[in-house]
Amino acid sequence: MIQERKSDHVDIVLNNRVSASENWWDGVHLVHRALPEIDMDEIDTSATLYSAELSMPLVISAITGGYPRGEEINRNLAEAAAEFGIGMGVGSQRAGLEHPDLESTYSVVKDFDVPLVIGNLGAPQLIPQGDKRAYGVDDARKAMDMVDADVLAIHLNFLQEAAQPEGDRKARGCLDAITEIASELKVIAKETGAGLSGADLDALAGTGIVGLDIGGLGGTSFSAVETYRVPDGNPLKRVGTTFWDWGVPTPVTLSLAADRFDTIATGGIRNGLDAAKALAMGAGSAGMAAALLRAATESADAVKAELEAIRAELVTAMFLTGSPDIRSLRSAQVILDAEIERWTGAMR
Ligand SMILES: Cc1cc2nc3c(=O)[nH]c(=O)nc-3n(C[C@H](O)[C@H](O)[C@H](O)COP(=O)(O)O)c2cc1C
Repeated sequence: MIQERKSDHVDIVLNNRVSASENWWDGVHLVHRALPEIDMDEIDTSATLYSAELSMPLVISAITGGYPRGEEINRNLAEAAAEFGIGMGVGSQRAGLEHPDLESTYSVVKDFDVPLVIGNLGAPQLIPQGDKRAYGVDDARKAMDMVDADVLAIHLNFLQEAAQPEGDRKARGCLDAITEIASELKVIAKETGAGLSGADLDALAGTGIVGLDIGGLGGTSFSAVETYRVPDGNPLKRVGTTFWDWGVPTPVTLSLAADRFDTIATGGIRNGLDAAKALAMGAGSAGMAAALLRAATESADAVKAELEAIRAELVTAMFLTGSPDIRSLRSAQVILDAEIERWTGAMR
């Protein structure tokens, strides 16, 4: 069943409109410098994230694993991530923990020299759900070993669970479970398309996590994805549509989080210019999932071609803001649209 769901998610994202109605990076603007006073070929995009040296601050966010085509996707992504010196997450590793024969669909990333590998488990799986037992520190360690992970992302996806017929809807106790695992292992908290509020950030600040992946509103909507899976006549079909645009926009969570956590800004990043906007707002790295998925189903070369274009866009944004390196880009001038300011102000 997990295998089928993983395969459905990839197919639905490839073949249907699943994005939030508004991409909030359109409300973030970098200011053009007519006199950049730097040479474009001197620009240095290197950065450090969770102690890993990256040649550019970009992470391929968690997408998949747990079914045969997932292995091919992870192989293509890992080959490209290794060549470009960027980070990469695998999808939820529950299937690999439950079915050892599926481990290779994740552990394939170990065949490549990816500088930052991020494992993945869901927060709902850290607490008992019906007759399903809760995962603990040992399971988390096993998941990390499966991919030689540098850090483990614990994903928060209660919008998806609420919109999914088979969803796990118990959420009480997640914070304690995250705290317990973070006391032993290097953990980041990660949303999956609905972002985090100021209150969530306050709560997470006490858990001992080493960072955050925003997974904010503006890109892939898991409420949208799930609505395509719900059979006609099931009331959850309506829930999925109604909550399509639910969540906290990625730039809003980033404004609140950048000073407090080493943050990956995922959620609606389409290109290297969006990535530059996120970095200028203080992100430790940009993160992308859906925008790389089609290439990942084709070949490693297709992913490399995408990454080459993204790097060219990032370098262009750095040149035109007079930023010779990522540190300077982080202090480039950013203008935020009023709606982003209003959300952020209300949650400060
Ligand atoms: C097909 C697909 C599967 C995903 N599976 C996972 C997952 O297993 N675990 C997770 O933490 N996030 C998962 N995500 C969420 C992404 O990591 C990311 O947070 C979200 O898609 C927003 O980024 P985007 O707008 O660039 O797609 C998945 C995304 C896609 C598109």
